[in-house]
Amino acid sequence: MTKTVQLISGNCGRIMPDSVSDYLKVGGYEALRKAFSMTPEQIIDEVISAKLLGRGGAAYPAGSKWKQLLDVEHFPKYIVCNADEGEPGTFKDKLLLSQDPLRVIEGMTIAGYVFNSQDGYIYIRGEYREIQKVFQNAVDNAIKAGFLGDNIMGSGYSYTIHIMTGAGAYVCGENSALLNSIEGIVGRPRIKPPHLAEVGLYKMPTLVNNVETFANIPVIVLMGGEKFLGYGAEDCGGTKLVCLSGHAARRGVYEVPLGVSLRDIIYDPELGGGLKNNKALKFFHLGGQSGPCGFPDQLNTPYAYKALRTIGLSVGSGAVVVMDDSVCIIEYLKGVTEFFIHESCGKCTPCREGNSRLHEILTRFTEGSATEQDLALLKRLSKTMTTASFCGLGQAATTALESCLKHALPEFEAHLAGQCPAGVCFTKEKAGEKK
Ligand SMILES: Cc1cc2nc3c(=O)[nH]c(=O)nc-3n(C[C@H](O)[C@H](O)[C@H](O)COP(=O)(O)O)c2cc1C
Ligand code: SF4
Repeated sequence: MTKTVQLISGNCGRIMPDSVSDYLKVGGYEALRKAFSMTPEQIIDEVISAKLLGRGGAAYPAGSKWKQLLDVEHFPKYIVCNADEGEPGTFKDKLLLSQDPLRVIEGMTIAGYVFNSQDGYIYIRGEYREIQKVFQNAVDNAIKAGFLGDNIMGSGYSYTIHIMTGAGAYVCGENSALLNSIEGIVGRPRIKPPHLAEVGLYKMPTLVNNVETFANIPVIVLMGGEKFLGYGAEDCGGTKLVCLSGHAARRGVYEVPLGVSLRDIIYDPELGGGLKNNKALKFFHLGGQSGPCGFPDQLNTPYAYKALRTIGLSVGSGAVVVMDDSVCIIEYLKGVTEFFIHESCGKCTPCREGNSRLHEILTRFTEGSATEQDLALLKRLSKTMTTASFCGLGQAATTALESCLKHALPEFEAHLAGQCPAGVCFTKEKAGEKK
């Protein structure tokens, strides 16, 4: 199996990002032209047969989401592109937004045409200030060239894209909190149902998809769903942009066909290239802070949605944080918990209080004062947070911890016995000396 394919990242670094003429030279807007000759149902059928799963993290089938929205009879409908990219270790939307924004715009325009929407919104992470300018230029140039705005390509269809920005809250990446933020109200998640396909932006039926999801739409329209599926695995067509960071020798964004192995992603010389200084792999963290940690004995698993899910892992946002054996898993998990303490919006107790309590318990482990009861409490609290938190943030805050409790329990037990396998935490003796 080829280990790199460029279905959606091929233009990056090869064209002027905001230049419509450059984009046209590499086949840009051929998909939109073709889309105008198709019915909305035909386009959605291709997205369904492509088995495109949402690339923002939750992996919801894009075709089903589009079909649900099509079935809602209402005007207007809104198209929203989630470019909040708040998940730590994730920087692949940044690549597309900064180096091939017209592909994202074309994908959003095809979606707009499918739902006869007149307005699309893109919610760009606040920190991506320079990218916002590039994106705005791309929108302006597309309007000037007749690919956006009134009567696009003489089709009679008119559509505009508005750029909105966040102010740095991770929870605003959650689709309903994001819509609140666009509306100018506090960015907290909404109760669902009603689903966004019924009551979305400004209470209108709305489609929310990730940047990478939209970037795949022109490819699917042009090559057809069946062919797109052939690039990926049985349950999920196409490719995935993975973001390699941490102790990987070759950190960066790589486009891989879904189904390549985790080992290839981390060790192939064209991809991760192994670990820096040839150190041993201790674990890897998939899909950002909300995702699970994987371990060396899982490396032969295909990087595909179902295959990973079967062993308790997930693709998530596409982040792959590689950690060598100098890292203490419990210290690492403390860092994860600090992130969630900072990002919890405070609306519900299990998440607001739970993350702080988790941090206190983990600190007892790293200080050498934890007991067996602390281990039991960690497990219980983690379950409570997953089941009782209001939104995905609190529900997923303990995913990394759960995976480590399952696969790296000896590391916790070693700390109970006063030993840190990585040699970075206080031992019981040191904790005793402190008293
Ligand atoms: C706390 C939280 C943060 C999220 N952050 C993002 C984000 O930054 N970008 C994103 O595309 N999806 C994010 N999501 C997922 C969105 O809620 C939603 O599933 C996604 O935008 C749908 O697009 P997709 O189906 O194309 O993946 C987040 C979800 C949660 C619970
Ligand atoms: S789980 Fe609760 S406190 Fe945490 S971000 Fe969601 S709504 Fe806010």
